[in-house]
Amino acid sequence: VEGKETIKRAPVVSVMGHVDHGKTSLLDYIRRTKVASGESGGITQHIGAYHVETDHGMVSFLDTPGHAAFTAMRARGAQCTDIVVLVVAADDGVMPQTKEAVDHARSAGVPIVVAINKMDKEEADPDRVKNELASMEVIPEDWGGDVQFVPVSAHTGAGIDDLLEALILQSEMLELEASPDAPAKGVVVESSLERGRGSVATVLVQNGTLRQGDMVVAGPYFGKVRAMTDEAGKQVKEAGPAIPVEILGLNGTPDAGDEFLAVVDEKKAKELAEFRQSR
Ligand code: GTP
Ligand code: NA
Ligand code: MG
Repeated sequence: VEGKETIKRAPVVSVMGHVDHGKTSLLDYIRRTKVASGESGGITQHIGAYHVETDHGMVSFLDTPGHAAFTAMRARGAQCTDIVVLVVAADDGVMPQTKEAVDHARSAGVPIVVAINKMDKEEADPDRVKNELASMEVIPEDWGGDVQFVPVSAHTGAGIDDLLEALILQSEMLELEASPDAPAKGVVVESSLERGRGSVATVLVQNGTLRQGDMVVAGPYFGKVRAMTDEAGKQVKEAGPAIPVEILGLNGTPDAGDEFLAVVDEKKAKELAEFRQSR
C-alpha cells in the first residue's frame, strides 16, 4: 500500500546489571561524548532516553533505572526494548542482580550484549566474567556461543565504540522495521509537571512519525503536542521510529510504560482517554 512502506529502524537499548557495576556511568559517557550538543549552551538534557549516531547507524538508549522501567513497561504489555546491555564489573563478576537481569531479558526474549566494565581497574578479570556467565548459558561468541562480550571502561571510554558497533551488529540480526508514514504510536518513558511548562512527557516513538500539532492520547490523558524537543534541548518538528522526544501539551502526567498514540481529532482523543480512565 502506498504510504505504508516499512524501513529499517534503529534498536532501542536498555542497560541493566548489578548495583554499582557502572550502568549510569556508561550511559553518561555515551551521552556526553556521542549526543550532539544542542542549543541550550552545549548541555544535553537529562531526559530518560536519547539516541546517538554511529558510523554504521543509529542506536537509541533508554536512560532509566534499568529494572524498574523494563519491568513496568513489560507489565503493561508495551515491550519496548530490543537489546539489553548487561553491565558486569570486571573486578566484581556476576552478582545477584546480574542473574536477575539475565532472567528478565530471557523471559522477554530480548538478546543480551555483555559490557565487561571497569576494565581500567587493576583487578579486572574478564575471563572470570565470561566463565561465570557461560555457566548460566550466556556463552561468548569466541567460545562458540552467540553472545557478544565487549570489554569497556566507562571512565576512560575504552571499548565504547566497539560496544556501539556490537549493538548495531545485533540489531541487524533482528531486522527491526517500522512504517514512518503511519500515525505515531509508542510508549511513555517518564513524565512530570514542570512549573511554566505544564505536563512534560518523554515518549519513545515506536512506529509512525510524531509531529508538532498532532493530537495524542497517552495513558488516560490527551492533548495537542504544543512543542517537542530532543535530548539536546533542540526544538524538533517531528520524530520518527525509535526516536525519543520530550512533548508538551498533555492534560496530565502518564506513567512510564503507558501507551501513546496519535489520533485524528480531539473528539477521538477525549473518547479514548475517558475510556482508559474508566478502566
Ligand atoms: P546503581 O545505579 O546504584 O545500581 O549503580 P550503577 O550501576 O549505575 O553504577 P555507577 O555508574 O553509579 O558506578 C558505580 C561506581 O563505579 C562509581 O563510583 C563509578 O565512578 C564507578 N565506575 C563506573 N564505571 C567505571 C569504570 O569503567 N571504571 C572505574 N574504575 N570505575 C567505574
Ligand atoms: Na551507583
Ligand atoms: Mg545508576
